[in-house]
Amino acid sequence: MTDQLEKQLATLYVSEKTGSDENGDGSEAKPFKTTLRALRQNDKEESLKILVEAADSGDASKQRWQPISEAGMKKAKKLHQQEVKRNEKAAEREKEDAERREKNLEEARAIVIQQDASLPQPKTIKIRSAKESRDVRVKVFGWVHRLRRQGRVLMFVVLRDGTGYLQCVFNDQLCQTYDAVTLATEATICVYGVIKSLPEGKTAPDGHEMVVDYWELIGASPAGGADNLLNEESGVDVMLDNRHMLIRGDNMSKMLKLRSVLIKAFRDHYYDRGYFEITPPTLVQTQVEGGATLFKLDYFGQEAYLTQSSQLYLETATPAVGDCYCIAQSYRAEQSRTRRHLAEYTHIEGECPFVTFEELLDRIEDLIVDVAQRVMDSPFAHLVTDLNPNFKVPKKPFKRMDYTDAIKYLKEHNITKDDGTFYEFGDDIPEAPERKMTDEINEPIMLCRFPAEIKSFYMPRTKEDNRLTESVDVLMPNVGEIVGGSMRTWKYEELVDGFKKNNLPLEPYYWYLDLRKYGSCPHGGYGLGLERYLTWLANRQHIRDCTIYPRFVDRCRP
Ligand code: 4AD
Repeated sequence: MTDQLEKQLATLYVSEKTGSDENGDGSEAKPFKTTLRALRQNDKEESLKILVEAADSGDASKQRWQPISEAGMKKAKKLHQQEVKRNEKAAEREKEDAERREKNLEEARAIVIQQDASLPQPKTIKIRSAKESRDVRVKVFGWVHRLRRQGRVLMFVVLRDGTGYLQCVFNDQLCQTYDAVTLATEATICVYGVIKSLPEGKTAPDGHEMVVDYWELIGASPAGGADNLLNEESGVDVMLDNRHMLIRGDNMSKMLKLRSVLIKAFRDHYYDRGYFEITPPTLVQTQVEGGATLFKLDYFGQEAYLTQSSQLYLETATPAVGDCYCIAQSYRAEQSRTRRHLAEYTHIEGECPFVTFEELLDRIEDLIVDVAQRVMDSPFAHLVTDLNPNFKVPKKPFKRMDYTDAIKYLKEHNITKDDGTFYEFGDDIPEAPERKMTDEINEPIMLCRFPAEIKSFYMPRTKEDNRLTESVDVLMPNVGEIVGGSMRTWKYEELVDGFKKNNLPLEPYYWYLDLRKYGSCPHGGYGLGLERYLTWLANRQHIRDCTIYPRFVDRCRP
């Protein structure tokens, strides 16, 4: 036993043919490739035995493992000694570098900068107004977006404050203080100086730069800055885990701003058209779009849900305020990860009393086009063109197509189910064929009049065909459905019938049913997914690029 152990400890196997220096461990089963590698593991000659695989080891009459030749060992030892020396030198250099760095930091600590009292008092500005504030002394707060050092006496910082980017130049002592030599991206600073337009040939954001005359560090950032958490090689999950840092980047910050501009455009549209905004609760005890996607929760001992849609509450508000809308969160326990589904999204819903189905379609079309136009007419249109240079506001009227014709279209264009059969009347048209059709047609489509069986309990039947409902999905190229809407069953008995067909209890919906008792009217409405609209407007690949912290299966943080 002891002999065997000794043999294991002292014998290393090397095979040029089958060994590996990376994955081998020097055993007979996993030999190294080179003798140098074996010596790295054990260079005590007295206790070392190296066996190499014979070149003709395939010959059964020969021993497979043979002791290394004297010449082979001599050559390997020489290489090994050279390597040891190289490593010692590198370690020495590193030690010297560390000492030099420490000394530099010591020197930097001794450098203290002060404001020149003879300079004019600076006015604090945001970067958005930098252009109007050129050639006078100003003060700007922000985050270090980019940082470049040029020798010991010059440093360029691109400062970011949410309203824009400003290149700042630091000279001489300003870039030699301890704070300057340890400055890293994402630190917060305050810079004082004069913004000067750049001579031709030089480039920086807005064609100018600040010549800094004094600065202060406000909040430091660790050495390496943002790159510690995120860099160009980061995978999708690392980016999602570090989304709180990712949003500081150019594209995501543009997206967040565009989202804000877009929400304002929706509000402006509605106020302009005479709608009132309602802010309904999202903790509910009723379902709107089927039990399969309900998030259940314990509400003080009772079962409740996160709302799928605020439609039912908007319907109750129309007798109080007339046309109304809401911008609220909706929740869907979607089990699949797709490019257009989130578990939580911002739902823009409108509800209109005394309208016909045709009028409802016109209003939806008006909403989509007018909101896009408002964004493009705003001072922030560049956010759209930066992200989606080819964007054009779509023209009215949109193509209107009935579900029955879509089924025909799929057949005529050979768009089939996975098993090769055709979609038939009554089938739900899933995301993939719907997208194929929309991308082929390549213009917005209002897909109308779906069969009752595949739509919600509250949708009324059409007069012409009792199998169909007064319903619409708006489909956009590259995204698919961005709006779902319909007229609402407004006669009490018909609605109760709808509840029964969908096995829904009446009691929790007593207030919704009362609407059909106390002055009912033909009415309709719709829901538009804000992130879907943004995916279309900004031409994003994935819906999760359109929200700050996306929620989907297995992802509930940050
Ligand atoms: O078609 P949906 O399910 O309709 C309703 O909820 C109606 N009650 C709305 C109403 O009439 N007031 O959803 C409406 C829209 C969809 O067209 C889509 O844009 C968006 O909401 N949506 C989603 N967006 C992101 N992730 C999801 N999981 C979504 N589910 C629906």
